[in-house]
Amino acid sequence: MKYIIEHLEAKLYPWCLLEYTHISQIVGKQNLIFTNIKTSAQKKKLQPLGTVHTQSVRHIPLEKACILDPFAASPLTPQDAQEFTYIIIGGILGDHPMKARTKKELSQFCKTILTRHLGKEQFPTDNAVYVAKEILEHHKTLNEFKYQDTLEITIDKGESVVLPFRYVLLHGKPFLAPGFKEFLKKQKMF
Ligand SMILES: C[S@@+](CC[C@H](N)C(=O)[O-])C[C@H]1O[C@@H](n2cnc3c(N)ncnc32)[C@H](O)[C@@H]1O
Repeated sequence: MKYIIEHLEAKLYPWCLLEYTHISQIVGKQNLIFTNIKTSAQKKKLQPLGTVHTQSVRHIPLEKACILDPFAASPLTPQDAQEFTYIIIGGILGDHPMKARTKKELSQFCKTILTRHLGKEQFPTDNAVYVAKEILEHHKTLNEFKYQDTLEITIDKGESVVLPFRYVLLHGKPFLAPGFKEFLKKQKMF
């Protein structure tokens, strides 16, 4: 299975890069493709993580492809592994409430590509990729995962950040990119 991240943020924010690095670790560099990468600086940062294309996935003819979209009509199932070779994920940071950016900025421009959801809750991009890989490559179903909805991370005494997203629990702990907590603590905006 090949995983395509269609980068849809205006910049390659450090938060995106942290998640993309995690995704490369999850699926392997050889299985990861980035599309819609517009600058050579971004290309340079992403090349160690996967194959990089300037073109948007909208303009790349793909067969047996599926877009993961929270607003799709059908869930992703282990049987879909027979149907699809490419899984397309929106390189979009989480927002709350969801603005349906995957649909507005990706799915609606790819009319011939089927869409699938992973339930109604919004996963961070790296968690969405992990769940899709477990379903397609290890035959798991959506109700076999343990989840935590909303994560609160303490960044300083009396200060915390609330992330209103769905995280997979692995060994009882939310699945986070290595260095994610340290990254949040360093953010100036909090
Ligand atoms: C952090 S989410 C952003 C979703 C965005 N806020 C929206 O409203 O469409 C990044 C990507 O992960 C995937 N994703 C996250 N949660 C999902 C879900 N419940 N079902 C399907 N895909 C999901 C989608 O590909 C999505 O574009």
